[in-house]
Amino acid sequence: MSRPTPILAPSILAADFTRLGEHIRQSVDGGAGWIHCDVMDGHFVPNISYGPLVVQAANRATDTFLDVHLMIQRPDEYLQAFVEAGADLISVHIEAVPHLHRTIHRIKESGVMAGVAINPATSLTLLEPILNDVDLVVLMSVNPGFGGQSFITSTYNRTTRLAAMRAEADAGFRIEIDGGVGAGNIRHLVQAGADVLVAGNSVFGAADVTARCRELVALMHG
Ligand code: DX5
Ligand code: ZN
Repeated sequence: MSRPTPILAPSILAADFTRLGEHIRQSVDGGAGWIHCDVMDGHFVPNISYGPLVVQAANRATDTFLDVHLMIQRPDEYLQAFVEAGADLISVHIEAVPHLHRTIHRIKESGVMAGVAINPATSLTLLEPILNDVDLVVLMSVNPGFGGQSFITSTYNRTTRLAAMRAEADAGFRIEIDGGVGAGNIRHLVQAGADVLVAGNSVFGAADVTARCRELVALMHG
C-alpha cells in the first residue's frame, strides 16, 4: 500500500491571536493541510490554552481540516462542544482516559475522526488493543503543555516502531508527530514513517509564515 502524502499541521498555539484568521490563511497558502488546535486544561498539563471558542473561530477562518488535540482530563464531557465548534478530528490522551475504547467510539459516533495521543514516556504497547479503531496516533515528541520545547530524539525510534506495529496489525491510522518539529528534523521524521507533522513556533515564529510553510512542505516531500 502506498503511503499518503505527508501533511503539515501548523499549531495555532504559536499564532498571533490578534490576527488568528490571517495567520491561519497564510499557513494554508503555504501548503498547510491541517490546522492543529492544542486544548489544555491546567490539570492534565500544567498550562491552560483555549477551548471550543477558539476552535470555532479557526473554523470560521478556514475550510481546512481542524485537528483538535485535547490535553485535558475527562474529555468525554467536552467532545460535543468541540464537534459543534467544527473539529474534523479529535484526539484524546491515553494517559487521561480510563476507558479508551469507549471514548474513541464516542468520538466516531459523533461524526468526526478519532485519534489517540501518547506521551514520550508511555509505552507504545498500550496502543495495541486500539490500533484498528483509531484514525490517528499522535506521538508526542515533547512533554505536552507548552509550545517551543526541544524535540525528544527517541521519537525517531518510536515512529519507526509504531509504523511497524501498524503494518503488523494491518491498520490504517496516520502517525502524527507533535512538538519541537522544524526544518532540522521534519524530513527525517517523514522518512521514519510520520504522516502528519505538527509545527507551532517553527511556523508562526517566522516573519513570513507562508514562505516558512512552503519550505517545510518542500523538505517533507523532498
Ligand atoms: C505541546 C503541543 C504542541 C506544541 C507544538 O503541548 O501539543 O502542539 O504546541 O508547538 P512547537 O512546534 O512550538 O513545539
Ligand atoms: Zn498538539
